Amino acid sequence: MFRATDFLGKCSKPSRIGSLLSKIRHQSRDTRAVQAYEPNVDRYHINGEYAKVDWCELGNKEVSPSSEIVNHGLASPQSAMNDCELSNDHSDVVEEYANLKWDELGFCLIPVDYMYVMKCSKEKNFSHGILTRFGRLEMNPSSGILNYGQGVFEGLKAYRTEDGRILLFRPEQNALRMQMGADRLRMPSPTIEQFVDAVKHTVVANKQWVPPPGKGSLYIRPLLMGSGPVLGATPAPDYTFLAFASPVGNYHKGYLNLVVEEKFYRAFPGGTGGVKAIVNYSTVFKPVAEAKAKGFSDVLFLDVKTAKYIEEVSTSNIFFLKGNVISTPATDGTILPGITRKSVIEIAQILGYQVEERAVAVEELFDSEEVFCTGTAMVVNPVNSITYQGKRIEYKTGPETVAQKLYEMLVGIQTGRIEDKMGWTVELN
Ligand SMILES: Cc1ncc(COP(=O)(O)O)c(C=O)c1O
Repeated sequence: MFRATDFLGKCSKPSRIGSLLSKIRHQSRDTRAVQAYEPNVDRYHINGEYAKVDWCELGNKEVSPSSEIVNHGLASPQSAMNDCELSNDHSDVVEEYANLKWDELGFCLIPVDYMYVMKCSKEKNFSHGILTRFGRLEMNPSSGILNYGQGVFEGLKAYRTEDGRILLFRPEQNALRMQMGADRLRMPSPTIEQFVDAVKHTVVANKQWVPPPGKGSLYIRPLLMGSGPVLGATPAPDYTFLAFASPVGNYHKGYLNLVVEEKFYRAFPGGTGGVKAIVNYSTVFKPVAEAKAKGFSDVLFLDVKTAKYIEEVSTSNIFFLKGNVISTPATDGTILPGITRKSVIEIAQILGYQVEERAVAVEELFDSEEVFCTGTAMVVNPVNSITYQGKRIEYKTGPETVAQKLYEMLVGIQTGRIEDKMGWTVELN
Protein backbone atom coordinates (compact mmCIF):
# COMPACT_ATOMS: atom_id res chain seq x y z
CA MET A 1 0.00 0.00 0.00
CA PHE A 2 1.37 3.39 -0.96
CA ARG A 3 0.91 6.52 1.01
CA ALA A 4 0.93 9.86 -0.74
CA THR A 5 3.72 10.98 1.56
CA ASP A 6 5.90 8.14 0.27
CA PHE A 7 6.35 9.77 -3.04
CA LEU A 8 4.87 13.26 -3.15
CA GLY A 9 7.56 15.70 -3.91
CA LYS A 10 9.99 12.99 -4.97
CA CYS A 11 9.32 13.26 -8.68
CA SER A 12 12.53 13.57 -10.58
CA LYS A 13 12.90 16.57 -12.86
CA PRO A 14 9.85 18.81 -13.26
CA SER A 15 7.97 17.84 -16.36
CA ARG A 16 6.57 20.47 -18.70
CA ILE A 17 4.09 20.67 -21.50
CA GLY A 18 5.48 23.85 -22.90
CA SER A 19 4.89 26.93 -20.87
CA LEU A 20 1.57 25.59 -19.61
CA LEU A 21 2.77 22.82 -17.35
CA SER A 22 5.92 24.52 -16.18
CA LYS A 23 3.79 27.45 -15.11
CA ILE A 24 1.47 25.31 -13.08
CA ARG A 25 4.28 23.15 -11.74
CA HIS A 26 5.99 26.12 -10.20
CA GLN A 27 3.04 26.70 -7.96
CA SER A 28 3.85 25.29 -4.57
CA ARG A 29 2.43 21.85 -3.79
CA ASP A 30 0.41 23.49 -1.04
CA THR A 31 -1.59 25.48 -3.54
CA ARG A 32 -2.78 22.28 -5.20
CA ALA A 33 -5.75 22.33 -2.89
CA VAL A 34 -8.01 25.05 -4.10
CA GLN A 35 -8.51 27.64 -1.38
CA ALA A 36 -11.81 27.39 0.43
CA TYR A 37 -14.23 30.18 -0.32
CA GLU A 38 -14.19 32.74 2.44
CA PRO A 39 -17.58 34.38 2.69
CA ASN A 40 -17.50 38.14 2.93
CA VAL A 41 -19.77 38.81 5.89
CA ASP A 42 -20.51 42.37 4.79
CA ARG A 43 -22.23 41.07 1.72
CA TYR A 44 -24.59 38.94 3.76
CA HIS A 45 -26.02 41.93 5.61
CA ILE A 46 -26.14 39.93 8.80
CA ASN A 47 -27.16 42.80 11.07
CA GLY A 48 -30.86 42.06 10.99
CA GLU A 49 -31.31 43.20 7.40
CA TYR A 50 -32.68 41.15 4.56
CA ALA A 51 -30.40 39.47 2.05
CA LYS A 52 -30.07 41.14 -1.33
CA VAL A 53 -32.39 39.05 -3.51
CA ASP A 54 -35.42 39.87 -5.57
CA TRP A 55 -37.98 38.43 -3.12
CA CYS A 56 -40.75 38.49 -5.73
CA GLU A 57 -38.85 35.93 -7.77
CA LEU A 58 -38.81 33.21 -5.15
CA GLY A 59 -40.12 29.96 -6.56
CA ASN A 60 -38.56 26.89 -8.00
CA LYS A 61 -35.81 28.82 -9.68
CA GLU A 62 -32.53 28.95 -7.77
CA VAL A 63 -31.97 32.54 -6.65
CA SER A 64 -28.47 33.75 -5.95
CA PRO A 65 -28.00 36.27 -3.15
CA SER A 66 -25.37 37.86 -5.31
CA SER A 67 -23.80 36.48 -8.41
CA GLU A 68 -20.50 37.82 -7.15
CA ILE A 69 -20.40 35.56 -4.16
CA VAL A 70 -22.05 32.38 -5.36
CA ASN A 71 -19.58 30.05 -6.86
CA HIS A 72 -21.38 27.74 -9.25
CA GLY A 73 -19.51 24.60 -8.52
CA LEU A 74 -15.78 24.36 -8.77
CA ALA A 75 -13.49 27.02 -7.56
CA SER A 76 -10.86 27.65 -10.16
CA PRO A 77 -7.25 28.18 -9.34
CA GLN A 78 -7.91 31.18 -11.54
CA SER A 79 -4.50 32.60 -12.07
CA ALA A 80 -3.12 29.33 -13.28
CA MET A 81 -6.20 28.22 -15.17
CA ASN A 82 -6.78 31.31 -17.23
CA ASP A 83 -3.29 31.20 -18.62
CA CYS A 84 -3.21 27.53 -19.36
CA GLU A 85 -4.07 27.12 -22.97
CA LEU A 86 -3.58 23.55 -24.09
CA SER A 87 -1.13 22.85 -26.79
CA ASN A 88 -0.78 19.73 -28.85
CA ASP A 89 2.94 20.14 -28.84
CA HIS A 90 4.04 17.77 -26.11
CA SER A 91 7.65 17.62 -27.22
CA ASP A 92 8.78 19.14 -23.92
CA VAL A 93 7.36 16.47 -21.67
CA VAL A 94 10.00 14.64 -19.71
CA GLU A 95 10.16 10.94 -20.38
CA GLU A 96 11.42 9.90 -16.98
CA TYR A 97 9.46 7.86 -14.50
CA ALA A 98 8.08 9.16 -11.24
CA ASN A 99 9.74 7.83 -8.13
CA LEU A 100 7.41 5.00 -7.25
CA LYS A 101 7.69 1.35 -6.23
CA TRP A 102 6.25 0.09 -9.51
CA ASP A 103 6.28 -3.56 -8.42
CA GLU A 104 3.91 -2.80 -5.57
CA LEU A 105 1.08 -1.17 -7.49
CA GLY A 106 -2.42 -2.16 -6.43
CA PHE A 107 -5.70 -0.47 -7.23
CA CYS A 108 -5.73 2.56 -4.99
CA LEU A 109 -5.42 6.26 -5.68
CA ILE A 110 -1.91 7.58 -6.11
CA PRO A 111 -2.34 11.28 -6.74
CA VAL A 112 -0.53 12.38 -9.89
CA ASP A 113 0.35 15.86 -11.09
CA TYR A 114 -2.45 17.17 -13.27
CA MET A 115 -6.13 16.88 -13.97
CA TYR A 116 -8.26 18.19 -16.80
CA VAL A 117 -11.28 20.39 -16.15
CA MET A 118 -13.99 21.65 -18.48
CA LYS A 119 -17.24 23.39 -17.56
CA CYS A 120 -20.49 24.40 -19.18
CA SER A 121 -23.95 25.52 -18.23
CA LYS A 122 -27.26 23.79 -18.88
CA GLU A 123 -28.15 25.28 -22.22
CA LYS A 124 -24.61 25.37 -23.56
CA ASN A 125 -22.06 22.90 -24.89
CA PHE A 126 -18.67 22.13 -23.42
CA SER A 127 -16.12 24.15 -25.30
CA HIS A 128 -12.87 24.82 -23.52
CA GLY A 129 -10.91 22.59 -21.18
CA ILE A 130 -7.82 23.26 -19.14
CA LEU A 131 -5.15 21.28 -17.35
CA THR A 132 -4.60 22.17 -13.74
CA ARG A 133 -2.79 20.77 -10.75
CA PHE A 134 -4.48 17.70 -9.31
CA GLY A 135 -6.13 18.95 -6.14
CA ARG A 136 -9.30 19.52 -4.24
CA LEU A 137 -12.50 20.85 -5.72
CA GLU A 138 -14.65 23.41 -4.03
CA MET A 139 -18.27 22.37 -4.34
CA ASN A 140 -21.38 24.38 -3.74
CA PRO A 141 -23.16 22.52 -0.89
CA SER A 142 -26.29 22.70 -3.01
CA SER A 143 -24.70 21.21 -6.13
CA GLY A 144 -26.62 18.66 -8.17
CA ILE A 145 -23.99 16.01 -7.61
CA LEU A 146 -23.88 16.37 -3.82
CA ASN A 147 -27.63 16.51 -3.35
CA TYR A 148 -29.08 14.36 -6.09
CA GLY A 149 -26.15 12.29 -7.31
CA GLN A 150 -26.35 13.85 -10.77
CA GLY A 151 -23.15 12.43 -12.19
CA VAL A 152 -21.58 9.72 -14.32
CA PHE A 153 -18.02 8.52 -14.54
CA GLU A 154 -15.80 6.44 -16.75
CA GLY A 155 -12.66 4.38 -16.36
CA LEU A 156 -10.02 3.56 -18.94
CA LYS A 157 -6.34 2.78 -19.04
CA ALA A 158 -3.18 3.99 -20.75
CA TYR A 159 -0.46 1.36 -21.25
CA ARG A 160 3.22 1.86 -21.96
CA THR A 161 4.51 -0.47 -24.67
CA GLU A 162 7.89 -2.25 -24.73
CA ASP A 163 9.09 0.24 -27.34
CA GLY A 164 8.08 3.25 -25.23
CA ARG A 165 4.80 4.27 -26.87
CA ILE A 166 1.69 4.99 -24.83
CA LEU A 167 -1.61 3.43 -25.91
CA LEU A 168 -5.18 4.13 -24.89
CA PHE A 169 -7.77 1.40 -25.32
CA ARG A 170 -11.00 2.31 -27.14
CA PRO A 171 -11.43 5.74 -25.48
CA GLU A 172 -14.22 6.69 -27.88
CA GLN A 173 -16.30 3.86 -26.41
CA ASN A 174 -16.01 5.45 -22.98
CA ALA A 175 -16.99 8.78 -24.51
CA LEU A 176 -20.09 7.21 -26.05
CA ARG A 177 -21.04 5.53 -22.79
CA MET A 178 -20.63 8.82 -20.93
CA GLN A 179 -22.95 10.45 -23.45
CA MET A 180 -25.57 7.75 -22.83
CA GLY A 181 -25.30 8.24 -19.09
CA ALA A 182 -25.42 12.02 -19.40
CA ASP A 183 -28.58 11.77 -21.45
CA ARG A 184 -30.19 9.49 -18.84
CA LEU A 185 -29.33 11.94 -16.05
CA ARG A 186 -30.23 14.98 -18.15
CA MET A 187 -26.78 16.45 -18.40
CA PRO A 188 -24.86 17.97 -21.30
CA SER A 189 -21.85 15.87 -22.23
CA PRO A 190 -18.55 16.40 -24.01
CA THR A 191 -18.36 15.38 -27.65
CA ILE A 192 -16.41 12.22 -28.42
CA GLU A 193 -13.52 14.37 -29.66
CA GLN A 194 -13.55 16.52 -26.52
CA PHE A 195 -13.61 13.46 -24.29
CA VAL A 196 -10.77 11.71 -26.10
CA ASP A 197 -8.77 14.93 -26.24
CA ALA A 198 -9.23 15.44 -22.49
CA VAL A 199 -8.03 11.90 -21.80
CA LYS A 200 -5.01 12.37 -24.05
CA HIS A 201 -4.03 15.63 -22.35
CA THR A 202 -4.44 14.05 -18.93
CA VAL A 203 -2.16 11.15 -19.85
CA VAL A 204 0.52 13.24 -21.54
CA ALA A 205 0.64 15.69 -18.64
CA ASN A 206 1.09 12.77 -16.24
CA LYS A 207 3.34 10.73 -18.50
CA GLN A 208 5.89 9.96 -15.83
CA TRP A 209 3.16 8.15 -13.88
CA VAL A 210 2.42 5.67 -16.70
CA PRO A 211 4.00 2.51 -15.29
CA PRO A 212 6.84 0.72 -17.10
CA PRO A 213 5.72 -2.11 -19.43
CA GLY A 214 4.41 -5.09 -17.49
CA LYS A 215 4.06 -3.20 -14.20
CA GLY A 216 0.55 -1.82 -14.61
CA SER A 217 -1.17 1.06 -16.32
CA LEU A 218 -2.34 4.62 -15.79
CA TYR A 219 -6.03 4.48 -14.92
CA ILE A 220 -7.93 7.55 -16.10
CA ARG A 221 -11.16 8.53 -14.40
CA PRO A 222 -13.30 10.96 -16.42
CA LEU A 223 -16.14 12.38 -14.35
CA LEU A 224 -19.17 14.43 -15.39
CA MET A 225 -21.34 16.07 -12.76
CA GLY A 226 -23.96 18.65 -12.03
CA SER A 227 -21.76 21.12 -10.20
CA GLY A 228 -24.14 24.07 -10.09
CA PRO A 229 -26.56 24.72 -7.20
CA VAL A 230 -30.08 23.32 -6.96
CA LEU A 231 -32.53 23.05 -4.13
CA GLY A 232 -35.51 21.37 -5.70
CA ALA A 233 -34.94 18.01 -7.38
CA THR A 234 -34.05 19.35 -10.83
CA PRO A 235 -31.04 19.19 -13.14
CA ALA A 236 -28.20 21.47 -12.09
CA PRO A 237 -27.65 24.75 -13.94
CA ASP A 238 -23.90 24.13 -14.43
CA TYR A 239 -21.81 21.08 -15.25
CA THR A 240 -18.20 20.09 -14.74
CA PHE A 241 -16.32 17.45 -16.67
CA LEU A 242 -12.96 16.44 -15.31
CA ALA A 243 -10.41 13.70 -15.80
CA PHE A 244 -7.90 12.61 -13.20
CA ALA A 245 -5.56 9.64 -13.17
CA SER A 246 -3.67 7.20 -11.00
CA PRO A 247 -1.13 4.48 -11.75
CA VAL A 248 -2.64 1.07 -10.97
CA GLY A 249 -1.75 -2.59 -10.84
CA ASN A 250 -4.13 -5.50 -10.38
CA TYR A 251 -7.68 -4.84 -9.20
CA HIS A 252 -8.11 -8.25 -7.60
CA LYS A 253 -5.19 -10.35 -6.63
CA GLY A 254 -5.95 -13.94 -7.63
CA TYR A 255 -9.04 -15.79 -8.72
CA LEU A 256 -12.52 -14.70 -7.69
CA ASN A 257 -14.81 -16.45 -5.24
CA LEU A 258 -18.27 -15.01 -5.76
CA VAL A 259 -21.50 -15.35 -3.85
CA VAL A 260 -24.92 -14.91 -5.43
CA GLU A 261 -26.64 -11.95 -3.75
CA GLU A 262 -30.24 -12.75 -2.84
CA LYS A 263 -31.20 -9.83 -0.64
CA PHE A 264 -29.97 -6.76 -2.51
CA TYR A 265 -30.32 -5.84 -6.17
CA ARG A 266 -28.08 -3.60 -8.21
CA ALA A 267 -30.49 -2.37 -10.87
CA PHE A 268 -34.10 -2.43 -12.05
CA PRO A 269 -35.75 -2.09 -15.46
CA GLY A 270 -36.06 1.57 -16.38
CA GLY A 271 -33.41 2.55 -13.83
CA THR A 272 -29.77 3.49 -14.30
CA GLY A 273 -28.11 0.06 -14.22
CA GLY A 274 -27.20 0.31 -17.90
CA VAL A 275 -25.22 3.53 -17.50
CA LYS A 276 -22.24 4.35 -15.34
CA ALA A 277 -24.20 6.53 -12.94
CA ILE A 278 -22.42 7.44 -9.74
CA VAL A 279 -25.51 6.48 -7.75
CA ASN A 280 -25.19 2.84 -8.85
CA TYR A 281 -22.07 2.24 -6.85
CA SER A 282 -22.63 3.19 -3.22
CA THR A 283 -25.68 0.91 -3.15
CA VAL A 284 -23.49 -2.13 -3.70
CA PHE A 285 -21.05 -1.29 -0.91
CA LYS A 286 -23.15 -2.98 1.77
CA PRO A 287 -23.68 -6.34 0.01
CA VAL A 288 -20.04 -6.40 -1.11
CA ALA A 289 -18.82 -5.61 2.42
CA GLU A 290 -21.03 -8.36 3.85
CA ALA A 291 -19.75 -10.84 1.25
CA LYS A 292 -16.13 -9.89 1.94
CA ALA A 293 -16.68 -10.33 5.66
CA LYS A 294 -17.65 -13.94 4.85
CA GLY A 295 -14.51 -14.47 2.77
CA PHE A 296 -15.92 -13.91 -0.74
CA SER A 297 -14.29 -11.58 -3.26
CA ASP A 298 -17.48 -10.03 -4.62
CA VAL A 299 -21.19 -10.57 -5.20
CA LEU A 300 -23.09 -11.75 -8.26
CA PHE A 301 -26.37 -9.87 -8.71
CA LEU A 302 -29.61 -11.39 -10.00
CA ASP A 303 -32.44 -9.67 -11.87
CA VAL A 304 -34.86 -7.87 -9.58
CA LYS A 305 -38.04 -9.06 -11.32
CA THR A 306 -37.63 -12.82 -10.92
CA ALA A 307 -34.32 -13.39 -9.12
CA LYS A 308 -33.79 -16.23 -11.63
CA TYR A 309 -31.34 -14.65 -14.04
CA ILE A 310 -27.77 -13.58 -13.64
CA GLU A 311 -26.93 -9.93 -14.23
CA GLU A 312 -23.40 -8.92 -13.28
CA VAL A 313 -20.84 -8.52 -10.52
CA SER A 314 -20.54 -5.21 -8.63
CA THR A 315 -18.01 -3.70 -11.04
CA SER A 316 -17.66 -6.24 -13.83
CA ASN A 317 -19.50 -8.31 -16.42
CA ILE A 318 -19.58 -12.10 -16.28
CA PHE A 319 -19.16 -14.92 -18.83
CA PHE A 320 -19.89 -18.67 -18.67
CA LEU A 321 -18.19 -21.32 -20.79
CA LYS A 322 -19.71 -24.67 -21.70
CA GLY A 323 -18.12 -26.64 -24.53
CA ASN A 324 -17.46 -24.21 -27.35
CA VAL A 325 -20.16 -21.77 -26.24
CA ILE A 326 -19.49 -18.67 -24.19
CA SER A 327 -22.63 -17.07 -22.73
CA THR A 328 -23.03 -13.69 -21.09
CA PRO A 329 -26.15 -11.87 -19.89
CA ALA A 330 -27.57 -9.56 -22.57
CA THR A 331 -27.29 -5.86 -21.79
CA ASP A 332 -30.90 -4.75 -21.84
CA GLY A 333 -30.79 -1.74 -19.54
CA THR A 334 -29.98 -3.24 -16.15
CA ILE A 335 -26.43 -4.35 -16.95
CA LEU A 336 -23.55 -2.04 -17.76
CA PRO A 337 -22.41 -2.57 -21.37
CA GLY A 338 -18.74 -3.08 -20.56
CA ILE A 339 -16.12 -2.12 -23.09
CA THR A 340 -14.01 -5.08 -22.01
CA ARG A 341 -17.09 -7.28 -22.41
CA LYS A 342 -17.62 -6.02 -25.95
CA SER A 343 -13.93 -6.56 -26.79
CA VAL A 344 -13.82 -10.04 -25.25
CA ILE A 345 -16.90 -11.06 -27.25
CA GLU A 346 -15.16 -10.02 -30.47
CA ILE A 347 -11.89 -11.75 -29.53
CA ALA A 348 -13.74 -14.95 -28.53
CA GLN A 349 -15.54 -15.00 -31.87
CA ILE A 350 -12.25 -14.54 -33.71
CA LEU A 351 -10.84 -17.45 -31.70
CA GLY A 352 -13.72 -19.63 -32.91
CA TYR A 353 -16.04 -19.65 -29.89
CA GLN A 354 -19.76 -19.25 -30.26
CA VAL A 355 -20.80 -16.29 -28.14
CA GLU A 356 -24.36 -15.92 -26.91
CA GLU A 357 -25.69 -12.72 -25.37
CA ARG A 358 -28.91 -13.83 -23.71
CA ALA A 359 -30.70 -14.33 -20.42
CA VAL A 360 -28.50 -16.66 -18.35
CA ALA A 361 -30.49 -18.64 -15.76
CA VAL A 362 -28.98 -19.06 -12.32
CA GLU A 363 -29.17 -22.89 -12.75
CA GLU A 364 -26.53 -22.57 -15.44
CA LEU A 365 -24.02 -21.89 -12.69
CA PHE A 366 -24.13 -25.63 -12.01
CA ASP A 367 -23.10 -26.85 -15.45
CA SER A 368 -20.61 -24.20 -16.57
CA GLU A 369 -17.02 -25.33 -16.99
CA GLU A 370 -15.38 -21.97 -16.71
CA VAL A 371 -16.57 -18.60 -15.46
CA PHE A 372 -14.75 -15.29 -15.79
CA CYS A 373 -15.40 -11.61 -15.17
CA THR A 374 -14.39 -8.69 -17.37
CA GLY A 375 -13.82 -5.01 -16.72
CA THR A 376 -11.30 -2.28 -17.37
CA ALA A 377 -9.85 -2.55 -13.87
CA MET A 378 -9.60 -6.37 -13.72
CA VAL A 379 -9.34 -7.07 -17.49
CA VAL A 380 -10.31 -10.79 -17.58
CA ASN A 381 -10.44 -12.36 -14.13
CA PRO A 382 -11.14 -16.09 -13.73
CA VAL A 383 -13.74 -17.18 -11.20
CA ASN A 384 -12.69 -20.02 -8.94
CA SER A 385 -16.04 -20.56 -7.25
CA ILE A 386 -19.60 -19.27 -6.97
CA THR A 387 -21.72 -19.94 -3.91
CA TYR A 388 -25.48 -20.04 -4.44
CA GLN A 389 -27.96 -20.85 -1.67
CA GLY A 390 -25.15 -22.32 0.39
CA LYS A 391 -23.82 -24.55 -2.42
CA ARG A 392 -20.31 -23.86 -3.64
CA ILE A 393 -19.67 -24.58 -7.32
CA GLU A 394 -16.08 -24.70 -8.52
CA TYR A 395 -14.75 -23.91 -12.00
CA LYS A 396 -11.66 -24.61 -14.00
CA THR A 397 -8.87 -22.02 -13.64
CA GLY A 398 -5.23 -21.90 -14.64
CA PRO A 399 -2.98 -21.56 -17.67
CA GLU A 400 -4.94 -23.86 -20.02
CA THR A 401 -8.24 -22.03 -19.75
CA VAL A 402 -10.21 -20.00 -22.26
CA ALA A 403 -10.16 -17.09 -19.79
CA GLN A 404 -6.36 -17.13 -19.89
CA LYS A 405 -6.34 -17.16 -23.70
CA LEU A 406 -8.73 -14.22 -23.83
CA TYR A 407 -6.75 -12.34 -21.19
CA GLU A 408 -3.48 -12.77 -23.06
CA MET A 409 -4.94 -11.68 -26.36
CA LEU A 410 -6.69 -8.65 -24.91
CA VAL A 411 -3.73 -7.47 -22.83
CA GLY A 412 -1.45 -8.18 -25.79
CA ILE A 413 -3.45 -5.76 -27.91
CA GLN A 414 -3.77 -3.19 -25.12
CA THR A 415 -0.03 -3.16 -24.47
CA GLY A 416 1.07 -3.29 -28.12
CA ARG A 417 2.59 -6.79 -27.88
CA ILE A 418 0.00 -8.15 -30.32
CA GLU A 419 -0.73 -6.26 -33.52
CA ASP A 420 -4.00 -4.36 -33.19
CA LYS A 421 -5.92 -5.42 -36.29
CA MET A 422 -9.16 -4.15 -34.77
CA GLY A 423 -8.15 -0.49 -34.64
CA TRP A 424 -8.87 -0.40 -30.90
CA THR A 425 -5.76 1.30 -29.60
CA VAL A 426 -5.07 5.01 -29.81
CA GLU A 427 -1.43 5.99 -29.67
CA LEU A 428 -0.40 9.19 -27.92
CA ASN A 429 2.11 11.38 -29.61
C1 LIG B 1 -21.16 -2.37 -12.96
C2 LIG B 1 -20.07 -2.59 -13.94
N1 LIG B 1 -20.20 -3.55 -14.84
C3 LIG B 1 -19.25 -3.79 -15.77
C4 LIG B 1 -18.10 -3.04 -15.81
C5 LIG B 1 -17.08 -3.30 -16.87
O1 LIG B 1 -17.08 -2.27 -17.81
P1 LIG B 1 -15.77 -1.94 -18.63
O2 LIG B 1 -15.34 -3.19 -19.28
O3 LIG B 1 -16.18 -0.90 -19.61
O4 LIG B 1 -14.77 -1.43 -17.66
C6 LIG B 1 -17.91 -2.04 -14.87
C7 LIG B 1 -16.70 -1.23 -14.86
O5 LIG B 1 -16.68 -0.17 -15.37
C8 LIG B 1 -18.93 -1.78 -13.92
O6 LIG B 1 -18.80 -0.81 -13.03
